[in-house]
Formats: sequence, structure tokens, C-alpha cells
Amino acid sequence: MEVIIVPDRDRAALLTARILAKELRAKPNLVLGLATGRTMERVYAFLATFHKNEGLDFSRCHTFNLDEYIGLPARSQGSYRHYMEEHLFAKVNIRPEHTHLPDGGASDLGAECRAYEERIRQLGGIDLQLLGIGGDGHIGFNEPLSALLSRTREKALTPATLAQNAEMFGGDLARVPRRAITMGVGTILDCRRCLLLATGKSKAAILAQAVEGPITAMVTASALQLHPRCQVVVDEEAATSLGGQDYYRWIFANEPEWAEFRDLELLKPR
Ligand code: GLP
Repeated sequence: MEVIIVPDRDRAALLTARILAKELRAKPNLVLGLATGRTMERVYAFLATFHKNEGLDFSRCHTFNLDEYIGLPARSQGSYRHYMEEHLFAKVNIRPEHTHLPDGGASDLGAECRAYEERIRQLGGIDLQLLGIGGDGHIGFNEPLSALLSRTREKALTPATLAQNAEMFGGDLARVPRRAITMGVGTILDCRRCLLLATGKSKAAILAQAVEGPITAMVTASALQLHPRCQVVVDEEAATSLGGQDYYRWIFANEPEWAEFRDLELLKPR
């Protein structure tokens, strides 16, 4: 695992978007794993800008989202399909049939979960998985005690997660679906590269547990410590509880892999 600390949330989102754009340019038929949540909105805004100003091409790319609520009409406000259309899909040249989210309205949810895994497999697996982190340390909707080898399945959401996500439902807790389909921790660990983005003070303590704490099903993001190629992009606020900050900064400042990303002025959209 590597941790990259940048000054603020805009630069963190920009760096994440630049890493992703580089992968897409290198492999136009990239299979991209996508995440939702407020943190990701900025990343998608940058990707839309790169598409508009630099011609970043999504036409051959396939996407798989981590999760979707159960029981919401697919394109209704609050659904992750709606979120993705609003923040990314409608703003770039991705083909609608290349965008995959679990169908939370499926009559047979178990079959839908198995079919989702099969679709990922048929497209050769996920090349790059974008991840956020929930307040309880979840990735996707893998709530505490999710098996670290789990696959795509139904999960009941914790009361804390429901409260955190209520903002997407006009602040009305009663409207937040209680269950979701999520890729499993094992599904996520199978992808070839993971990129986790965390910003803001509210993420500092849980991020430190995930990155530097023991690997535990109580904090499913900690399973990323097992992944051979996982990078974590954070802003200063989210980095405050990390014990290894000096080392992480040294790596970013000195490793050749990061040379092209270091000058954040250059990272600004042209
Ligand atoms: C939801 C999603 C997660 C995401 C989390 C963080 O729970 N299922 O994938 O990481 O939100 O959201 P935010 O960026 O709004 O803090």
C-alpha cells in the first residue's frame, strides 16, 4: 500500500482523476470500477473536464460500480445509477451499455449478484477500482464483519451508514433504503489496482485504522493492506491521524513513479 498526501481535497480529487485518466489513455478499453459518495463528485467533475478539454475518450471503457441500493427504481433520485448518470455518464462519451451497476430492483437478488460477478469475469476483471471509505471503514457497502473473502451479495446497512447517506435523500432518514447489493471484499481484492480517496477531518481516525491498524473485518477497508497494488490518496485533513506521514511524504517526493504527478500546478485542468 502507498499513501499520497496532498494539501487539500481538490488536489486529492485531481490527482485521483489524473491517475485514472493516465490508465484510460494507456488502455482505452479499461475496465473501471467506480464508487459513489460526496468525495467522488469532484473526481467525476475533473474527468468530465478532461473529456471536454482534452478529449479523454471513454468510448471503449467499461465501468462496474461497487454497489446499489435495493428497492429503489433504477433512475430515481438517490439511486447510484442516478448519481452516476448525473455526475459522470451524461458528461462523457461512455456507451450506456458499457456502464454496469447491480440491479437493486431485480426479482431474484441472489441471481443478480451472481450475474454481476459473471459480467466482471467475462470482461476480463476490473483493471482499476476507485474506492471511498465509509465512516465505519466500509468499502462499497461491506459493513463491519463482512467476510474478507465475500463476493457480490446483499447487505443490511448499519444505522450509522443510513444516517451518513441520508443527505442524498434530502436528509430524510426514512427514505434511505435499508439494504444494498455490494461487491464483496473478495471481489474488490481481485481487481488489478485499487485507488482509495479519502478527504476531510471526519475520515482521519477511520482512515488511520484502515491503513495502519490490524486487518479486521470490523474495518473492511483494512483488507486493502492485502492488495499488491493499492494506493490511498488523502488530503492533509484526512491524514492527521496517520503515524507514518513522514515516510509517505518521502515516497511521494522521491519515487520515480510519482514524478509526473508531483507538480500539482501541472495537474490543474488545462
Ligand atoms: C457510501 C458508498 C461508499 C462510499 C461512502 C463514502 O456508503 N457505498 O462506497 O465510500 O459512501 O461516502 P462519502 O464520500 O460521501 O463520505
